[in-house]
Amino acid sequence: MADDGLTIALRLALYLDLAASFGVAIFAVHALGRDERGSMIARRYRLFVGASAAIGSGLSLAGMAVLAKTMSGAQSYGELSIHVFEMIITGTPMGLAWSIRLLALMICVLLSASKLNPTSRFVWLAISSGVALATLAWAGHGAMSDGVRGYLQLASHVAHLWAAGAWVGALLAFLMLALGKPDEADGSLEMLSRTANGFARAGTLIVVTLAASGLINYWLIAGPSLEPLFTTLHGRLLLGKLALFGGMLGLAAANRFRLGPSLEASLATGHRALAAANLRRSLYAEATLAVLVLASVAWLGTLAPKLP
Ligand code: HEM
Repeated sequence: MADDGLTIALRLALYLDLAASFGVAIFAVHALGRDERGSMIARRYRLFVGASAAIGSGLSLAGMAVLAKTMSGAQSYGELSIHVFEMIITGTPMGLAWSIRLLALMICVLLSASKLNPTSRFVWLAISSGVALATLAWAGHGAMSDGVRGYLQLASHVAHLWAAGAWVGALLAFLMLALGKPDEADGSLEMLSRTANGFARAGTLIVVTLAASGLINYWLIAGPSLEPLFTTLHGRLLLGKLALFGGMLGLAAANRFRLGPSLEASLATGHRALAAANLRRSLYAEATLAVLVLASVAWLGTLAPKLP
C-alpha cells in the first residue's frame, strides 16, 4: 500500500484507538458511581482501556516507521538507520510528542492492571490516556504555526480531540452496556438507562466544545475565507465531515429525547427488549458515523488546506 494510504490508515487507527481509550476512561469517571467502578462492566471498561493503550503503542511505533521512511526518502524500511529515528524523535516537536505518547500509554497499561482503588485508577487512566490523545495534535495541521498563534492552534486541536474522544468513548461505553441481554440480571440495562438519560449536560458540553474549537481550527488552518471549503479537497472533505456530524447530532438528540426516556419507561413496565433494541440500533448508527468522521479527518489532516 502506498505510504500515503498507509499514513492515512494508521492515523485513523490511532484516532479510533486513542479516542476510545480516553473516552471510556473519562466515561467511567463521569457516569459511574463510586461503588459501580468495581463492578463487572467497570472491569470490562478497565481492560478495554488497557488493551487499547497497548494497541496504541504498537500503532505509534508503526507510525514512526512510516514517518521516518517518508521524511528520509528511503525506498525500503530496511534502509532506515537509527540516526534517522534519532533525528526525528529528539529533533522535532512531533518526535517529542510521540515519546510522551508512548510513555503515557505504557503508564495506562500498567494502571489498568494495578490494584489501585477503582476511582483513583479510572481518574489516572483518564489522565494518561488523555495525554496520549492530546499528542496527536502535533501530528497534523494543529502544529503548523509558531508563536502565540501556534499555542492557540495546538490548544484548540487538543480541546477538539478530547471532546471527540469523550463522544466516541461514551458511544462505546453505552454500546458495551447495551449488548447485555434484556433479561440479564447484571443490571446493565438499568445502568444504560441511568447513564444515557444522565448524559445530557456532558453531551451539550462536548458538542459546544467541538463546534467552538472546530471553528477556531478552520479559521487558523484555512480561514477566514470560506472559499477553500468549496475549492479544495480538504474543504470538501470537511463539509462532508460536518454533514456526518449533523447526522450524529440528530441520532444523539433521538437518544436523549426519545429512545433513552422510552428505555427508562420500559424498565418499569418490563417490556424492555424492544426499547433496548431501538436504543442499541441508534447507538450503532451514531458510532458508524463517528468512525466515518474520524476517517475523513485522518485523510484531510494530510491535505493542503488552501490552494497554492
Ligand atoms: C461543528 C463541528 C465540527 C467542526 C466545525 C470541526 C472542524 C474541524 C477542523 C477545521 C479540523 C482541523 C482539520 C485539519 O487538521 O486540517 C478538525 C479536526 C478534527 N476533528 Fe473536527 N470538527 C467538528 C466536529 C467533529 C466531530 C463530531 C468529531 C468526532 C467525533 C471531530 C473530530 C476531529 C478530529 C479527531 C480532528 C483532528 C484533530 C487533530 O489531529 O489535531 N470533529 N475538526
